[in-house]
Amino acid sequence: MGGKNCKGSRRITPDALQSYVVLVTIMFTTTAPPRFLAALAMTLLALSLAACGQHEQAKAQPPAGGGDPARGQLLIQQYGCQSCHSIPGMRGPKGVVGAPLDKMAQRAFIGGKVQNTPANMIQWLQNPQSFDPGNAMPNLGVTPADARDITTFLFTLK
Ligand code: HEC
Repeated sequence: MGGKNCKGSRRITPDALQSYVVLVTIMFTTTAPPRFLAALAMTLLALSLAACGQHEQAKAQPPAGGGDPARGQLLIQQYGCQSCHSIPGMRGPKGVVGAPLDKMAQRAFIGGKVQNTPANMIQWLQNPQSFDPGNAMPNLGVTPADARDITTFLFTLK
């Protein structure tokens, strides 16, 4: 408790939002004097700040796909993905056969076909031809474990 991890967090937390809703509801349904309402507002604010530490903890989720992004980055180099894709943080050629993979985490679709989720990405990397038969990305024999790590790396590209 104490919200020690809350510095720099300017998000409105669900708790804070709930507090405001409660406050507004009370303001419209009560005849209490303003001083009472101000005190209530401070209490609710304090409560939402106290809860903030917990929210910060919940934010430290495992990475998308649950793999190892550093290994994923190495694997991309080994599989030679950059011969067709321009990929941030990669040395060597910046291929233009496929789309650049920067901001991959923000794309809505993979190959314009399936929803861009870690689970779908793991499948796509192993078998792009089954998703989009005849497309120019070949099946490269990516193993399930490798696909997971590569996916985790790709989802760091925001
Ligand atoms: C021979 C060229 C080639 C290689 C090698 C290749 N890709 Fe692709 N990749 C493509 C093409 C072409 C597309 C577009 C496919 C489509 O739109 O259906 C694509 C699409 C993708 C997409 C979806 C991009 C988007 O914007 O939707 C991802 C992610 C991807 N490739 C990752 C990889 C990774 C990781 C590797 C290495 C394991 C790799 N590719 C190797 C050609 C390649």
